[in-house]
Amino acid sequence: MSLFQSPYKALVIGASGSIGAAFLKRLQEDPLCETVIPLARTSNQADFISIHLDDEDSISRAALTVKDQGPFDLILVATGVLHGDGFMPEKRLADIDMKVLQETFTANTFGPALLLKHFVPLISARGVMALISAKVGSIEDTRLGGWYSYRASKAALNMLIKTASIELRRQKPEAMVVAIHPGTVISNLSQPFAGGANARPAKIAAEEMLATIQALEAEDSGQFFAYDGQLLPW
Ligand SMILES: NC(=O)c1ccc[n+]([C@@H]2O[C@H](COP(=O)([O-])OP(=O)(O)OC[C@H]3O[C@@H](n4cnc5c(N)ncnc54)[C@H](OP(=O)(O)O)[C@@H]3O)[C@@H](O)[C@H]2O)c1
Repeated sequence: MSLFQSPYKALVIGASGSIGAAFLKRLQEDPLCETVIPLARTSNQADFISIHLDDEDSISRAALTVKDQGPFDLILVATGVLHGDGFMPEKRLADIDMKVLQETFTANTFGPALLLKHFVPLISARGVMALISAKVGSIEDTRLGGWYSYRASKAALNMLIKTASIELRRQKPEAMVVAIHPGTVISNLSQPFAGGANARPAKIAAEEMLATIQALEAEDSGQFFAYDGQLLPW
């Protein structure tokens, strides 16, 4: 079944990840999706365009490579890190480490800021750019504590999205940029945590998020949504 009412063009940034790959597959199966271009840091597939969030040149090159095939009605950003080579999310203040902060913010905040810079201009007049954030980045909703770098990097991402939406509204009043929380999803990112046991397949999360995105109206731009369409507090 098609997601949208008329033919559309899409980009999936982070198409090598669990959620990104599920987005890509769903869009490739949609008869009304005229074009869907995957972008990722690593892939052994020839049609993937290389993009490294710690390298602005690679981001601007990727945007330039796809520009002539746009503008795009749907730009999905499914990149992010929670843990990495030799690090796990902090449990307490004493665990805070500059290298971990930098790596987490590079992937979750600074890189996406550059994605906004180079890809917002490629959104079609009524298009939407949806960046995956996380509910644990909601300041109001924070109760459990811990995960300092990840929470803060996603809270800062949310601010970038909100601010970009204000600028976008002046240029393209019908276009949108939103933050979206996928719920707990089976992936490399969630695998080491207890929540992983309750996690659902990326295919289902992608389907739910696409249904939420498809139902957005221009006035929803700059908001933070859960996969099921629920509005989340900042
Ligand atoms: N899974 C969950 O339960 C959950 C819950 C809340 C929010 N989220 C968010 O959902 C998003 C997708 O996560 P996922 O669960 O699908 O995890 P995943 O399978 O680990 O995918 C993460 C993606 O981010 C890419 N990436 C990381 N650092 C990058 C960098 N420096 N440059 C370019 N690409 C980079 C990875 O590329 P490589 O393949 O090259 O490593 C991969 O494509 C993230 O923003 C995450 O915070 C996930």
